[in-house]
Amino acid sequence: MRFLPAPILTSLFTLLPLMAVAQQKTANYDEAAIVPYTLPELLKTQDGQSVKTAADWTNIRRSEVLGLFEKFVFGKTPQNWGKVRFETLSVQNNALEGKAIRKIVRVTLPDHPQWAGLELMLHLPKAATRPVPCFVGVSFGGNEAVSADTDIPLSTRWMRASKTNGVVDNRATEQSRGNEKERWQLELAMARGFAVATYYYGDVEPDRNDGWKDGLRAVLSKDGASTEWQDGDWGAIAAWAWGLSRVVDYLETDSAVDAGKLAVIGHSRLGKTSLWAGAQDKRFGMVVSNNSGEGGAAIMRRNFGETTAVITKAFPHWFTKTYSNYANNEAACPVDSHMLIALAAPRAIYIASAEEDRWADPKGEFLSGLHAQSVFDLFGKKGYGVHEQPPVNTPVGDVVGYHIRTGIHDVTRYDWEQYIAFASRHFGL
Ligand code: GCU
Repeated sequence: MRFLPAPILTSLFTLLPLMAVAQQKTANYDEAAIVPYTLPELLKTQDGQSVKTAADWTNIRRSEVLGLFEKFVFGKTPQNWGKVRFETLSVQNNALEGKAIRKIVRVTLPDHPQWAGLELMLHLPKAATRPVPCFVGVSFGGNEAVSADTDIPLSTRWMRASKTNGVVDNRATEQSRGNEKERWQLELAMARGFAVATYYYGDVEPDRNDGWKDGLRAVLSKDGASTEWQDGDWGAIAAWAWGLSRVVDYLETDSAVDAGKLAVIGHSRLGKTSLWAGAQDKRFGMVVSNNSGEGGAAIMRRNFGETTAVITKAFPHWFTKTYSNYANNEAACPVDSHMLIALAAPRAIYIASAEEDRWADPKGEFLSGLHAQSVFDLFGKKGYGVHEQPPVNTPVGDVVGYHIRTGIHDVTRYDWEQYIAFASRHFGL
């Protein structure tokens, strides 16, 4: 490969965010301009049989739909990781100013020592008198970003720099502490009796187009990933989702947590990740998608805001290669996001949008939950209970929850209030 001279490289890096903004500006935001589309049928098997009962769904159609998402969107997760080892690195009995017990646990694969492992951070409400339900999610920053407690070791992994995250030379610094704490609302969760478990997504794979070379995907590949990823091979989202399931493996061993009451949660690209983790791993009793947008909850066929063409060009590493075939060709894709939501059934699922986050297509996010209803019906479960997108800051829904809050693309205290109320109801707290 020829190397670009430094000034050209620098200007490319300055241009990239501008290009993204330009793309956001030129995207379609006009409902009237959406080309009419037909969604793939949920309740028809590949060989044309009608899915009439919960048993038909569970025994036949569900695995077909899961297989379609593996083949065409996220790629198939390999099964060769072998044993999983947990090593408690620290227990802090006075975290969050005495409100929480914080454990940091390293998760490694003894059969694959080339992978340095992930460091999961678990906050438990100190006041708890019995095993507690737990939110499980991946973070954009290291553990030091999720909580401002100064005794949390700084992540040493590659990290993307932003204006506000204190990352220098792609590494966390003291200035990175707490920069994601608004998004995690640990104090609120502790006060309501929930534990929160999280890990940094870069522990599994750095979020760059060539990140697979330095991540778990290379380690688990047959050839050590000397070759590029092929159609059907797993993408980074599937790898991050795999990490969430390993967190569950640990939580099942920790008697402070009620592993029958786990909610997987994620924002944006990590909301796409939580949807895929929840679809594959039924140990998650509840799924939360916060502003997950394209490739997550938003109906791809609407082409509103971000499109398949844009996402597969900007972030090809998130998906299996095959997914890019559907750029400007959505009608040919065997799935759409209502099917991803349906994979949560009959478990509870909450989809959240933000009014100013048009790039993620709030209405498309709402519609996926609506069009998944037929599967929840098979189980006699009530979904939204409404057919139109509700006004801002007006949560709706029974087993399928939804809200659109005022504000931008983010996770806020308001969002957490709704997730905690929803989880409390579903977990019978
Ligand atoms: C970009 C991307 C989205 C993604 C978001 C995020 O905006 O286009 O698909 O959800 O980043 O992860 O914040």
